[in-house]
Parts: sequence; structure tokens; C-alpha cells
Amino acid sequence: MTKSVRVALVGLGNVGRSFLALMAEKATLLREQYGLELRLTAAADSSGAVMTESGIDPTALRLHKERGGRTGDFLGGVPGMSARKLVAQAPADLLLEASPVNLQTGQPGLDCVRTAIRRGMHVVLANKGPLVHAFGELTQAAAEAGVGLAYSATVCGALPVVNIGRRDLAGCTIRSVRGIFNATSNSILTAMARGQSYADALRQAQLEGVAEADPRLDVEGWDTANKLVIIANSILCQPATLADVTAVVGITGITAEQIRDGAAQGQVVKLVATAERDVGGYRLAVRPEWLPADSFLAQVNGFEMGIVFETDIMGLQMYKVEERGPVPTAGAILRDVINIMRGSQI
Ligand SMILES: NC(=O)c1ccc[n+]([C@@H]2O[C@H](COP(=O)([O-])OP(=O)(O)OC[C@H]3O[C@@H](n4cnc5c(N)ncnc54)[C@H](OP(=O)(O)O)[C@@H]3O)[C@@H](O)[C@H]2O)c1
Repeated sequence: MTKSVRVALVGLGNVGRSFLALMAEKATLLREQYGLELRLTAAADSSGAVMTESGIDPTALRLHKERGGRTGDFLGGVPGMSARKLVAQAPADLLLEASPVNLQTGQPGLDCVRTAIRRGMHVVLANKGPLVHAFGELTQAAAEAGVGLAYSATVCGALPVVNIGRRDLAGCTIRSVRGIFNATSNSILTAMARGQSYADALRQAQLEGVAEADPRLDVEGWDTANKLVIIANSILCQPATLADVTAVVGITGITAEQIRDGAAQGQVVKLVATAERDVGGYRLAVRPEWLPADSFLAQVNGFEMGIVFETDIMGLQMYKVEERGPVPTAGAILRDVINIMRGSQI
């Protein structure tokens, strides 16, 4: 029997539109392998919203956005209708939140998630903002409401960092986590090492659709810090916010000359997030580090991201992913949706 799931999508940018494409592309696989039919019943961007119980054609909405259209102007759309209002009224079983990160308040994503949970909707996040601001509150609210809350897309796109840490390292004490979590800044450092300019490399990351709407979040280390905070809360079981990250230093101060000098000494600079276990808990930091060129993290290049878990009983585990564009992140959202709907939330 096929289970029909009514989906509300907030944010129709690189990630949201990629998810709309997957809804069409994966419809048969979802039905045949998982018995699921995803039906888009509500969507919002910054211009307005559209909702209808009878369903919105995901391909038509995606093409409308790709042609530069606004959701408020889409057939049946309501110009100026906010995402908050949409989520409060949408005929939906599941909220997918893919609006930009708001470092200061987590809004409007945070209110959208609160409202969705209150209304008994499952929630899948690509947007880190709500979790960074209110991880404990949201996970508790979801548990009390008996709904799924999944966010594997928020940390390293499709690399299942959260899933590995929460599920597959069960029983371990994690001594440290070290990782390269931001593809934009990593691709800039790799490009600079190859002689390309900082500005050209940043433009390339923006063209690929992997840079944040405000790329300062990438290059000043905040996107990496956001992911570290989510790892601290979800995997290391240490309640944390950005205020608990003792240092957040980005890559803007690194020059091509420093990269050349480092290379001459067999060293590579990377933007590294660290969580080191100490007596009082984990010490969290984000800063550029000079690493031996043959080390695992030094070899995470370009649009790759990587992580090293040092555990007490499961060894030193290293993972990396290469992602071009936003499709892998949309894939991670799909993974979360499937897991929630099958009742196998991580
Ligand atoms: N890109 C990636 O590879 C990637 C990977 C992992 C996680 N993420 C996260 O996924 C989220 C989306 O990323 P993206 O690359 O798709 O961003 P994006 O291309 O900048 O798209 C953002 C979307 O959100 C909409 N939006 C902006 N403000 C809004 C508001 N107040 N209410 C409702 N919608 C609003 C925008 O509307 P308009 O269309 O009207 O401008 C746009 O459709 C971000 O939180 C990002 O951190 C992205």
C-alpha cells in the first residue's frame, strides 16, 4: 500500500529547487521501494507562498523559479504571504525547511519549525539556524509531540555525519572530532594553492550553488561553527550554542604567499573544526590549521568535506565526500524523509 505524504517546502533556492527535481525524478523509486508518495501541498520563498490540498506540480514550480519567477506569482500563489503563516495553515504532514541561515535569531526558520511541531508535522531541516539557536527545545518538543525531526543535511550535505555519529558509533566514547565542513572555503584554499585568485574561487563556489546566501558565513568560519554546534548537541550530547565555540576564525586572512611558503615546508592550510574531549566536556573551536600534506584532512580538497572521529573502542574513523552543487544536500533531505516515514529516525 502506498502512503501519501503531504509536503510543505520553505525555501526554493538551490537546495529547495533540487528537492523539487528529486520529487519528480525519484517518484517511482519512492513508490516501489518505500511505498511512499510525496505530494507537494505548500511552498514559500521570500516573495510569498502557495498552498493547495490537491497538490502543486513540483516540476512546474521549479521551472517557474528557474525562470526567475516568484512563488507569490505562481498559479494560486499569495504574494507577501510569509513562511510562518504558510506553516501555520498548510495542509501538510511534513515541513522541509531550506531557507537561509539567520545567524542572529534563526528566524523565520525557527518559528516555522516550532509551529510545524506544534501542529504535529514531521520536520526535516537543511537550514542550520533553528538547530543552532534551539537544539534542545526543538528536539524535546518533537519528542513530546511524537513527530520526527531530522537534520542530516545540515552537516556536510550528503555525508551522513550525524547518522554515523548518532547510530553507528553507538557505545563509543568519542575522544575528538576534527573536520573540514565547509566546501566553499575549502575550494577557495585549494584553488589558491593552484594559483587562482580568492575572488575567482569564491565566484566558482557561488556558481556551483554551494556557497551560503551570505558567503561571509562560509569564509569567516560561521558555517563551520554552526555544523560543529550541531555535532556537539546531536552526537557528543553536549548542549551548545555558538557562544560555546571558543574561537571562530575564518580563511580571509590567509594569503597566497603563506600557502606557497607552507607548501614548500610540506604543509597545507585547512579550515578545521575541532571538538576535543576535556575534563569539563568538549572544547569547540574553528580555525585555520597547518597540516602535514600527507595527513587525511590535508587531502580533503576542493569541493570535498571530511571528518575524523577518534573513538575509544572503534578506532580512528575517517570519512570524506565530494559534492558538486546542491543535489547531494537535497538527497540528504530525501534520506531523512524516507527514514522518518519508515519510522527509522536516526
Ligand atoms: N547549497 C548547499 O549546498 C547547502 C548544503 C547544506 C545546507 N544548505 C542550507 O540550505 C538552506 C538553503 O540553501 P540554498 O543554497 O538553497 O539557499 P538559496 O539558494 O539562497 O535559497 C534560499 C531560498 O530561501 C528563500 N527565502 C529567503 N528568505 C526567506 C524567508 N524569509 N521566508 C521564506 N523563504 C525565504 C529564498 O527566496 P527567493 O527565491 O525569493 O530568494 C530562496 O528561495 C540554507 O540554510 C543553507 O545553509 C545548503
